[in-house]
Amino acid sequence: VPSAQDKSVQRTQDKARRTRLNVVHSIVEVRDAIRRWHEEGHTVGFVPTMGNLHEGHLSLVAHARERADRVVASIFVNPTQFGENEDFDTYPRTLEEDGGKLEAAGCELLFAPAAEEVYPYGPAHTTHITVPALAHTLCGAIRPGHFDGVATVVVRLFNMVPADVAVFGEKDYQQLQIIRFLVKDLAVPIEIAGAPTVREADGLAMSSRNAYLNAEERQAAPGLYQALQDVARRVAGGESVDRAEKAALATLAGAGFRPDYVAVRGTEDLAPAKAHNRPWRVFGAAWLGQARLIDNVPVPD
Ligand code: PAF
Repeated sequence: VPSAQDKSVQRTQDKARRTRLNVVHSIVEVRDAIRRWHEEGHTVGFVPTMGNLHEGHLSLVAHARERADRVVASIFVNPTQFGENEDFDTYPRTLEEDGGKLEAAGCELLFAPAAEEVYPYGPAHTTHITVPALAHTLCGAIRPGHFDGVATVVVRLFNMVPADVAVFGEKDYQQLQIIRFLVKDLAVPIEIAGAPTVREADGLAMSSRNAYLNAEERQAAPGLYQALQDVARRVAGGESVDRAEKAALATLAGAGFRPDYVAVRGTEDLAPAKAHNRPWRVFGAAWLGQARLIDNVPVPD
């Protein structure tokens, strides 16, 4: 008799076999496809991305498949979340390969809108969404306007893609919390699910920007994860947050990183760690050559 797990694996394989990816570019088409799924009684999971997909993104698709009958992904390199000197122009656009990966992962629908579809008045004239409670700290303090751009595009994507649940990775933990906040605050009718960070064998969190690392930097890169884990261990063991953060900054600098920050924060409010905002997480961002790496780990209670 097949176990429940065997049946679930079988269902996943069946679904993967019958999947053909439908690629659409307009709001009308994506809404129409989702309306038809809903009329057929299916639930819909949504994975918003900027493309250049890796295993981390595909794990978000797998999570969406666990939570919903049908999966739609979007690929849109969002101009409003890049700073002036950031990599918007050079960000890899790999739509064809990405489509193949999504299809193999069992995603049924890909929404790849042009900029005019997402920003009909142009990015410079768009209505901005901002989440001031969470968006100006950590990466938001270093990349001013970044999370306004993320919040702005995510609200648009949710309006264009009326799914039941959307999945975001915990690697971008601040982004995930900002999206949870705005969905509650603006009563957006979608459930938000977080998915654990997918790591390389040596612990480096998967990211499109890891491609910017040369061979030597790639060897050093897991040092960020190790430094954050060390802070988590020290703080859980009773060491002061300040001391543990400073030790990590020194370790990172010694290993060739240019750290932006290492900070222990409340998981919900992202404010500095205090007795009232447990559980805590350790957040870190650091440059290694041309790559800005970010990561975060929980502090055991
Ligand atoms: O995490 C990302 O890839 C992007 O920030 C998102 C959520 C797709 C918005 O552009």
